[in-house]
Amino acid sequence: MRLNASFVPLFLAVVVATKPVIVDRSPITFPLLKKLNVTSGHNLVQSGKQRAQLLRNQALRKSGQAVDDVLVDEPVTNEAVIYIADIAVGSPATTYHLIVDTGSSNTWVGADTDYAETTTSDDTGSGVSVSYGSGSFSGKFRFLPREEYTDTVTITDDLVLSSQSIGVASRSSGFSGYDGILGIGPTDLTEGTLSNSNAEIPTVVDTAFSEGLIDEQVISVYFEPTTEEEVENGELTWGGVDDSKYTGEINYTPVTNTYPASYYWGTYILGLRSPLHDLTTDPGIDQSITYGNSVTILDNNAGITDTGTTLLYLATDAYNAYAEATGGEYDNSVGLLSITSAQFDALESLFFSIGGVTYEFTPNAQIWPRSLNTAIGGSEDGIYLVVADVGTPSGQGLDFINGYVFLERFYSVYDSANSQIGFATTPFTNATSN
Ligand SMILES: *[C@@H]1O[C@H](CO)[C@@H](O)[C@H](O)[C@H]1NC(C)=O
Ligand SMILES: *[C@@H]1O[C@H](CO)[C@@H](O)[C@H](O)[C@H]1NC(C)=O
Repeated sequence: MRLNASFVPLFLAVVVATKPVIVDRSPITFPLLKKLNVTSGHNLVQSGKQRAQLLRNQALRKSGQAVDDVLVDEPVTNEAVIYIADIAVGSPATTYHLIVDTGSSNTWVGADTDYAETTTSDDTGSGVSVSYGSGSFSGKFRFLPREEYTDTVTITDDLVLSSQSIGVASRSSGFSGYDGILGIGPTDLTEGTLSNSNAEIPTVVDTAFSEGLIDEQVISVYFEPTTEEEVENGELTWGGVDDSKYTGEINYTPVTNTYPASYYWGTYILGLRSPLHDLTTDPGIDQSITYGNSVTILDNNAGITDTGTTLLYLATDAYNAYAEATGGEYDNSVGLLSITSAQFDALESLFFSIGGVTYEFTPNAQIWPRSLNTAIGGSEDGIYLVVADVGTPSGQGLDFINGYVFLERFYSVYDSANSQIGFATTPFTNATSN
């Protein structure tokens, strides 16, 4: 039989009719619950320093460089802002309270609520082990016996991953109140975590994409400034952005593919002047921080943006320049810089220049919420600055961390397929809630 002409349009019609089902997926959004897990400003500052050290060391180790582990052995303080999402695993499902982390990429459950094996559980026979080292999540985890399973992971009704790799921890971790981690960092970070292979593990974002649940490997993060210790003030969007949560445009900055600058989401943003990567392939991102109109705080530096870090960390020399510009004095009881109300009245904005766009970080954004002063061991009428010292001089590859205090003022977009990261202002960029 000869193909007649009418066959062709029919075939095309089928393709056209089918196409929207395959590609036309709206981004999926779900809320994040914030918990401030902190008893003292000192511990908060220390926790961020340790996390910075861990991130730096992981990148160095991966690039085969010698790592000074000494600092990592400092006592772990574990105090930070934590974001929780309730995620269901299995069928029938058990719901786990998972910490959402852009700084790690394995997902695991079972620390507090036992992992319940159901008909959808599949023991892969492999062990899985992630060394969180220090910082928000502590090195405790690395000692847990853990097994890798694949299972159905329900993030929202619209986002059901039918076969996601998860690590299963024993109940005895002492990580009380939380069941594990939803790792939404770059896939690279899963390499070396399986006991029986060096393969990477698809992250929840990779699986959502490969199972056709989202169109793009994009995650967007939105937080509102809040003065409550525990509140739903955040939102994670998968497969795109939530247009209702930012103002103006999202400005994207191309990321460098040069290893290991690309190791963490954040190093993408800056990727400059870092001994961790090859300067000759520098994409030429214009990056600096100034205080007010004219005081240079930091110039040409590499750093990261991180949901797992609470404060804004700067390299020691930049931190000193900031302290001098603001008149902030180190407060021994809190571990943060403290200013008088006259100095607060005179405080000027910090200007972050990322990829040629300037983001204004207002005076109010630079202070710890005064209603939470006592939560960090401060006095009720004190004024404490949220800028902390990362503990190393600039030029060492991780010269700043834009933590939660930055992310609650700017919407951020992590676009792995297009190797770019975006920022936008929000209705809360200029909020005076602190
Ligand atoms: C919260 O802080 C306490 C120390 O004050 C620590 O023992 C605990 O592990 C922290 N929780 C998390 C989830 O980091
Ligand atoms: C914040 O305030 C500054 C100074 O008043 C203004 O220039 C800027 O446009 C405001 N930004 C937003 C996002 O509203």
